[in-house]
Amino acid sequence: MLQVKDADIFYGQAQVVFKLNMNVREGEFIGLFGRNGSGKSSTFRAIMGLTPPRVQGKIEFKGRDITGLAPHVIANLGIGWVPEDRKIFPNLTIRRNLQLGEKARRYTPRNTKLFGMEDAYRFFPKLYEMRDKLGSQMSGGEQQMLTIARTMMGNPSLLLLDEPTEGLAPNIARDVLNMILDIRKNFNVTTIVVEQFSEHLLKYLDRCCVMEMGECIFDDRPSVLQSDDALKLKLLGVG
Ligand SMILES: Nc1ncnc2c1ncn2[C@@H]1O[C@H](COP(=O)(O)OP(=O)(O)OP(=O)(O)O)[C@@H](O)[C@H]1O
Ligand SMILES: [Mg+2]
Repeated sequence: MLQVKDADIFYGQAQVVFKLNMNVREGEFIGLFGRNGSGKSSTFRAIMGLTPPRVQGKIEFKGRDITGLAPHVIANLGIGWVPEDRKIFPNLTIRRNLQLGEKARRYTPRNTKLFGMEDAYRFFPKLYEMRDKLGSQMSGGEQQMLTIARTMMGNPSLLLLDEPTEGLAPNIARDVLNMILDIRKNFNVTTIVVEQFSEHLLKYLDRCCVMEMGECIFDDRPSVLQSDDALKLKLLGVG
């Protein structure tokens, strides 16, 4: 579904990702791990066509070369991106925030179950309770769930989640993860989730990639990472 081929990513003259290759198959749940500054968010930005950074190499989505296309075109092709800094509209109601996600919906293949407002409310009843409140009245965890739900309103076939549980209390982080798992169970959405590292997440993943200083140093099943203590220590920042 998504293929990143020999991607080099630059900010100005500085190269931050080196010859990255990723091959994501339909339906997969992939974890992209790596310590601070290893190039995870830049990789997402490159996939979404955002500039900066600048990309050399090739990115294909559903067999189509999307390298260099504008971000809104890429989004309309079916890639949903939840950035690190949860962009909600603080002065709009929660209901309106969700509707804005729906507007972006365009190409929706038939025979796909569509994610609508009622699903947003079902997966996260708090959104329903708070539907007439302003975005700014939500806690960090609630904003994260709103962002994910809003992105799902565009019915992406590939969902990119950048550190969705970062900065959240453990129980809220668990709610967010459960929401992601629920959505995956009910809608056919291929998912890449970026985290610095999460051992807890491993059991849900089909595959994980690890980046270090802009290079992919691991791409295999979670069980292989699970048994690699040296790599885990490195990811946890101890080694
Ligand atoms: N707008 C920018 N201009 C210049 N350099 C940048 C910019 N954004 C990121 N970088 C650099 O690119 C490298 C990779 O950053 P990136 O944000 O992709 O890492 P990351 O893996 O997402 O890290 P984190 O876990 O902290 O979110 C870092 O060295 C960072 O300083
Ligand atoms: Mg990042």
